[in-house]
Amino acid sequence: MNYFNYVEGELYCEDLSVSDIVEKEGTPLYLYSLRTLKRHYQVFDRAFADIDHLVCFSAKANSNIAVLRVLVNEGSGVDVVSGGELYRSLKAGADPKKIVYSGVGKRREEIRFALESGILMFNVESSQELEVINDTARDLKTRAPIALRVNPDVDPRTHPHISTGLKENKFGIDMEKSVAEYRRAAEFEHIEIVGVDCHIGSQIVELMPFLDALNRMKSMIELVRAEGINIRYLDIGGGLGITYDREEPPHPDDYARAIVEEVRDLDCTVILEPGRVIAGNAGILATRVLFTKERDNKRFIIVDAGMNDLIRPSLYDSYHRVLPVRENDGGTAVADIVGPICESGDFLVKDREMPRFERGDLIAVMSAGAYGFTMSSNYNSRPRAAEVLVSGNQAAVIRKREGFEDLVRGETLPGFLLHHDGNR
Ligand code: LLP
Repeated sequence: MNYFNYVEGELYCEDLSVSDIVEKEGTPLYLYSLRTLKRHYQVFDRAFADIDHLVCFSAKANSNIAVLRVLVNEGSGVDVVSGGELYRSLKAGADPKKIVYSGVGKRREEIRFALESGILMFNVESSQELEVINDTARDLKTRAPIALRVNPDVDPRTHPHISTGLKENKFGIDMEKSVAEYRRAAEFEHIEIVGVDCHIGSQIVELMPFLDALNRMKSMIELVRAEGINIRYLDIGGGLGITYDREEPPHPDDYARAIVEEVRDLDCTVILEPGRVIAGNAGILATRVLFTKERDNKRFIIVDAGMNDLIRPSLYDSYHRVLPVRENDGGTAVADIVGPICESGDFLVKDREMPRFERGDLIAVMSAGAYGFTMSSNYNSRPRAAEVLVSGNQAAVIRKREGFEDLVRGETLPGFLLHHDGNR
């Protein structure tokens, strides 16, 4: 359930009409519903109430500090994958003791920042990374809490670009090598082993892959404990899918029930890293139709949001539902919705029957709260969209629309270009 509904033909976000907000803030515009974010978090968190657990929202899905703050206020921790995400999380007021740091390519400065911040644990993805963490912890005269990210080699049966738990992916340490790696980690003076971690992919709509991975992690814990190593945390990553179109992912209650059954007697705190399932359906992208044109019976609706604003359709052929912000009875038409970017791959919708949108209409691109703004760019020198958070009948700009000056911030004209005397 979410809080985007029609009231007398007008799309509302909570108690405010989307067109009123857009009238004020312009397009393209990301709009998030605070109630939806909270509700999704609470449903997910409560589903695990029976066991000792920690939900670490995956910041890559939506890292606006206000969005993070909403979840932090609910008790959430954060799963970060960069110094930047860690910085944002701390800005948002997250408790460092609820932050886990994953990612295959952590830099030394980022590791240092995380150690200085006192995070809960590093999810380590290679032997070399372990060495650098150990060295950095030695410099700081401390010990780094770590889990090894184990690659369980299960097929999440999702889009190949977002599956991460297969051997052919770059993520994690192979199952077979993991015990040896744990043994090695135990030798490092500045490493404190605290957990086991895995993450198998994203937008997963079945329980089976999660359970397969979980079973492998359980045997891993057994093997590691047999080495005399104390394991307190089992991090099983994120990945639970949502409905964009007709997918029927397991409800968080079912997902949790299946997991809780398996881990009840494990004597571990279970860490979960949901991203999409919390934020995906808590946000939309509002965009305005600039022009329409027809060619060889093909209709194009050209809007003011491009692949730089929402890249998911171009990158993964993802489906996002589109709704009219104001319903009309103009019938339907098959069309492409395309952006202003100079690439044929710049589309939001391909060949779909939808309401017959006309010039000036506002369109709501649904399910854009996760991997929407966070994946946006300035390609074609397009200032990035504004983000607005709605709470009941209040709307607050939580990131202002970029301007041209933001585009060139940090760029300089070097002295040797200033007195250019032609091509002599
Ligand atoms: N934990 C780790 C280590 C991850 O790599 C990810 C996502 C998550 C948690 C959160 O997964 P979620 O619960 O959101 O499925 N850009 C793609 C999705 C990439 C996901 C990357 N990792 C998309 O737009 O579909």
